[in-house]
Amino acid sequence: MNWVTKRIWPRLSTKSVSVAIAIELDIGLMTQESQGALDAGSVGVLKGPLLAQCEITEACNQSCYYCYNHWRPSRSGQALSPELATDIVNKIADLNIVAIALTGGEPLLCKSTVDAAISTALARNLLVSLNTNASLLDRKMIEQYIAHRVYFLVSLPSSEPHTFKRITGSDFFPLIIENIRTIAHSGGMITINMVVNDLNVHEIEDTAHFALGLGVTCFRATPVSPPQHLLRSQNVWGLSIENYEAYFMAMNSLRRHSTIRVGTLGTIPFCMIPDWCQDIPSLYLGCTAGRGIVTVGTSGDIRPCSQADFSVGNILRQSSNDILNALTPWQSREYLPNRCRECAEATRCNGGCRMFAAHANGDMKACDPRMTDPVATEIHLGGTTNDSHSGKFGGECISAKPHVRWRREAHGYWSVFSGDYYDILNESGMKLFRYFFVDGHVLPNEIPPRLGQFVGYFLSRGYLTEPQKSEDDL
Ligand SMILES: C[S@@+](CC[C@H](N)C(=O)[O-])C[C@H]1O[C@@H](n2cnc3c(N)ncnc32)[C@H](O)[C@@H]1O
Ligand code: SF4
Ligand code: SF4
Repeated sequence: MNWVTKRIWPRLSTKSVSVAIAIELDIGLMTQESQGALDAGSVGVLKGPLLAQCEITEACNQSCYYCYNHWRPSRSGQALSPELATDIVNKIADLNIVAIALTGGEPLLCKSTVDAAISTALARNLLVSLNTNASLLDRKMIEQYIAHRVYFLVSLPSSEPHTFKRITGSDFFPLIIENIRTIAHSGGMITINMVVNDLNVHEIEDTAHFALGLGVTCFRATPVSPPQHLLRSQNVWGLSIENYEAYFMAMNSLRRHSTIRVGTLGTIPFCMIPDWCQDIPSLYLGCTAGRGIVTVGTSGDIRPCSQADFSVGNILRQSSNDILNALTPWQSREYLPNRCRECAEATRCNGGCRMFAAHANGDMKACDPRMTDPVATEIHLGGTTNDSHSGKFGGECISAKPHVRWRREAHGYWSVFSGDYYDILNESGMKLFRYFFVDGHVLPNEIPPRLGQFVGYFLSRGYLTEPQKSEDDL
């Protein structure tokens, strides 16, 4: 399977590695599931999804105007009991999924269900994240979840109280800020997610700096994905194409001038991302619906992603095999738009967001409206900034973050999952990853220059502890 090595990571030698690995490494890394050539009939390398988003309740104590929950604004209130949550989490683990995100609605409206889901997930060795607006937390809960290594993903649409209120309709701003600060200062793993729209696009940098000031080191700015109810309404803010430019400029500026790690949680068509953003690999997420991720609703219905308003099966009523079979069209990229089949990035980008396309055009196989033109050659991600050179890493030890998970996949490949992102490695790549980052720690000056790019990429995807940046890098 040498085509993988040829495409992104050229043959790398470890001769200069000070720790002795007496093998020539042929490191292969596929961002998500790049397969070389598009074969419409083929299923991917992944044996099944890695992450399940588990919706604890449909109810919420905020009313963010853009919320993608498909049941809004017509219905709300259905919730999982602790017993049902336990059943669902066990079924999720039976699918060999490695991580679970508890979401909703606002999951903490049902704390006993969240707690039951967490203890079942931990018993099944799943990485657990809690996707919350953070309004219902208190110090005791925060300490309890940190002790269980729960990863917090907290929504914060603005650092400006006025904008926050306009977007969410809530008065929880001071409470949320205090809870974010408590999580960060108590050593909790936390990512802030800012959903970006025309109203707050010019507040991205301020919000990121504000988050950094609270002690947060990981910041996601996710372009709003318009749910159907939003597209029907004339009086709400999407993210206009003109404002995408402001979005990319803000991300680029943060990447260069701030120590906070930036990226997105949403799918942006690769062809619309300016080439000066290529050293922010975390912007190139691609669509992973039904392949890397699935969503399980409060009745056990499985959807390919949280934004999908249809189900493909039910986890409580169907066997694991039936569910994996039902996801096959997503694995084999049946919904890839015809125009994208010629694109060199089709297997990583997957044609942008399928639900964006469906909601805008009424057809899941339509082009993502933000798409420009198929790209001729694969985009080289990462590696153009200082942190691709070992000499530029700071003095601290680099090691794998404790929440990193990995799984053996088909054809000798491995998936590694950071909580936000996943990548596919061949055996040699996995050997290096495990040697350096799992079995031990590595000092930055032990990283040979030719492996610096590999390390820089993995830092940007959240697998590794961040070394201190030197003054020169800022
Ligand atoms: C539906 S919320 C549920 C969890 C929790 N209530 C919260 O807001 O974090 C899940 C995630 O989706 C994000 N989100 C909501 N609507 C969105 C949209 N239209 N486009 C992109 N992300 C969205 C939220 O910021 C949050 O990170
Ligand atoms: S807090 Fe979360 S679930 Fe509630 S309306 Fe906002 S995005 Fe939707
Ligand atoms: S042409 Fe399609 S597959 Fe290629 S980058 Fe654009 S949206 Fe993605």
